[in-house]
Amino acid sequence: MRSIRVGLIGWGTVGCGVIQVLRENEADIRNRLGVPLELRRVADLDIDRPRPVSVPRDLLTNRIDDILNDPDIDIVVELIGGLDAAREVIRRAIDSGKHVVTANKALLAHSGNELFRVAAERGRAIGFEASVAGGIPLIKALREGLAGNRIQTIFGILNGTANYILTRMAEGGLSFEDALGEAQQMGYAEANPALDVEGIDTAHKLAIASALSFGTPIRFDEVYTEGISHIDPDDIQFGEEFGYSLKLLAIARHMDGRIETRVHPTLIPRHHVLASVKGAYNAVHVQGNAVGNIMLYGMGAGMMPTGSAVVGDLIDLARDILGSTPGRVPALAFQPDRLAEIAIKPIADVSTCYYFRFSALDQPGVLSKVSGILGKYHISIAAVIQKGRRKASSVPIVMLTHEALESNVRAALAEIDQLDIVTAPTQIIRIENQETNNFF
Ligand code: HSE
Repeated sequence: MRSIRVGLIGWGTVGCGVIQVLRENEADIRNRLGVPLELRRVADLDIDRPRPVSVPRDLLTNRIDDILNDPDIDIVVELIGGLDAAREVIRRAIDSGKHVVTANKALLAHSGNELFRVAAERGRAIGFEASVAGGIPLIKALREGLAGNRIQTIFGILNGTANYILTRMAEGGLSFEDALGEAQQMGYAEANPALDVEGIDTAHKLAIASALSFGTPIRFDEVYTEGISHIDPDDIQFGEEFGYSLKLLAIARHMDGRIETRVHPTLIPRHHVLASVKGAYNAVHVQGNAVGNIMLYGMGAGMMPTGSAVVGDLIDLARDILGSTPGRVPALAFQPDRLAEIAIKPIADVSTCYYFRFSALDQPGVLSKVSGILGKYHISIAAVIQKGRRKASSVPIVMLTHEALESNVRAALAEIDQLDIVTAPTQIIRIENQETNNFF
């Protein structure tokens, strides 16, 4: 029986991982598949720079047409990243009758609906396990393992770089910049690390996971997104004093006919299992109406874990090619004509608990002015501490609230920040705890 032949475009960190996994596990893969999975060609603009994983010279090319126009290649792996050029590569691969595997979450967040539609029309499939949560098989779990469920919520740590930075700031006392530098050295960060630290990469992944969970098209533009670059190490410290850990959390919830999709720094109880996810690890909690609560945990970034996800997709596609069943599982888990435009809840309508750090003068009557305004907007205080006493300058006053409506919180803080006793804009961090969700 013939082999299944693969052309790989993009010989970077993930490309090296894919080549290494194919090489190291060649015999197991052949035994699982029944035929060899053969790396036929590797394309990159620069084929001379030394890489951690080498490729025989005769497999290398700097012309992607050598892959796209090769009739013997069954599956094209797109690992060049970015938007326009990668979209073009995938469109051309599909037009040439090839199946595609990609790790490109940004591209799928922006153009996934179009690419999946075109692929389905041509009877081709796109594998994208590596696009969300690195080595964790979350896409497979949502599309197949949990297909018997109505999925209710997803809570996840989906960006290894941001999680690494927060972990090193909390435990190693590192500055934000030093922690980011370390994450970059270890190969976790995006080429543009703003995608990691501003929450955009997490939002790309959440947009994909939310669509798969709730049966909607991908709607990246409607994900509320806030990153970690404005987090002060003091906030991590104060949160810990209240028994909380700080994580960049991706939250998707289908409730009362609307969907919440939001990414923001979140304080979660320190004893909670998600709080123990450290470094570049990712973890995703999924709640389904049949299965209950499940957690998936593993490396969310890096050469070999992401290579593992890509090769898993290659084996899936190879099986579908051999069995003549490509497209057996719909790309977005639901049949394309059954995807629903369920309304997304604006952030102003979200209710949750909050951490506020006010910067205020240390003088009598300050707390009563602040709490008076909070009371006016139906915001109930759960705890408060004032740190230090500095007569002339301001002091941090940290307050935790019970569940409150975001629009009320914003209106209250706009008034509070106008008070002459308040010296800097108030820091605000959302909290997930038992009051907001029984999973915590
Ligand atoms: N920059 C991403 C991360 C890589 O840090 O998680 C994996 O998508």
